[in-house]
Amino acid sequence: MAKWKNFETNAIRTQTERSAQREHSVPIYATSSFVFDDAEQARTLFANEVKGNIYTRFSNPNNDEFIEKLCLLEGVEDGMAMASGMAAMFVSMASFLNQGDHLLICRSVFGSTHQITTQLLPRWGISYTYIDIHEPGKWESEIKESTKMIFLETPSNPGLDIIDLEFVGKLAEKHNLIFNVDNCFATPYIQNPAKYGADIITHSATKFIDGQGRVIGGAVLGSRQCIEKVRFFARHTGPAMSPFNSWVLSKSLETLAVRMEKHCENALQLAKHLESHQEVCSVRYPFLPTHPNYKIAKKQMRLGGAMVSFELQGGMEQGKQFLNSLKMISFSANLGDTRSIATHPASTTHSKLSVEERAIVGITDGLIRVSVGLEHMDDIIADIEQAIRCSRK
Ligand SMILES: Cc1ncc(COP(=O)(O)O)c(C=O)c1O
Repeated sequence: MAKWKNFETNAIRTQTERSAQREHSVPIYATSSFVFDDAEQARTLFANEVKGNIYTRFSNPNNDEFIEKLCLLEGVEDGMAMASGMAAMFVSMASFLNQGDHLLICRSVFGSTHQITTQLLPRWGISYTYIDIHEPGKWESEIKESTKMIFLETPSNPGLDIIDLEFVGKLAEKHNLIFNVDNCFATPYIQNPAKYGADIITHSATKFIDGQGRVIGGAVLGSRQCIEKVRFFARHTGPAMSPFNSWVLSKSLETLAVRMEKHCENALQLAKHLESHQEVCSVRYPFLPTHPNYKIAKKQMRLGGAMVSFELQGGMEQGKQFLNSLKMISFSANLGDTRSIATHPASTTHSKLSVEERAIVGITDGLIRVSVGLEHMDDIIADIEQAIRCSRK
């Protein structure tokens, strides 16, 4: 497969080899297995002496096309498509961590990643330490002899905290740790963690990579050496993506650049609008100069992303009222859609945490998170304005 100089061309022109039918758009290879020409071919395929498809749990042309594109876009050698973002997170840890190993992980990670870390990994003798996003100076002292991996998300969900990838990359290199980044919020268009030394990049493709809220998917990407371990684990445990989902997601990648440009333009406009709003006490957006890590965001991100969070003065009650009053923007647990989506983390996704636990990860009672979509900006702002007005009553 060819490699072009520019992101957009790689996203559009990386394609599975054309079949005898001369199709322009790649077909869906809806097949669970592949046929061997003869016994010798089967033997060489199983012995890994030649590359080729055997069974869709191992590989499939649609999955390979999706991954080949993602690798080009992230600037890494290899990867594997997973059935969901969480399959990707779990596989990215379980392929490397053994009994007795220790994981260093940022406190502000996605809820299910938190559950894997605190409820599942300890069952297999893998311990963890949460590191505080606001105190990077203390992270080195948390590294033990048994520490094998450092895992983080930046920007984080829903607080939109930014972690300095260059700083962590150097720390990981110094202590020989596997540096694993969930790059779901930024997408490869906005940020490439491999540039800063990340060994593993994980994605929930369900979000901006799909971009239209249609399928669930994920990916684990990295060096050939790392992905060899991932492939062994995944081949035998079975979290493979369905070829239909890979086909959808590979098509979605063709428009990722234009979608992210517009998502980010809209998000910045909304953030600026909210910043001067009387009812809003604070706004978080990585490319607002008031963001505490604005300089780091500017260094490692091409654009500020599509997520904006803001704080309503009236706390929990006003937050709930705001969501009940939205007329166009969807109230949904997803993000990364053409449709703008709002959530109120304190009463939904993070309601099981105590007020103190929520405060540590920046979730206050009045915090609203918006995944800014591609509707006309005037309509997005009008809906937010009317919902703020109604939420006051
Ligand atoms: C940052 C992040 N990582 C991982 C996931 C999990 O992805 P999936 O729902 O595709 O399993 C999500 C889902 O919202 C997420 O926001």
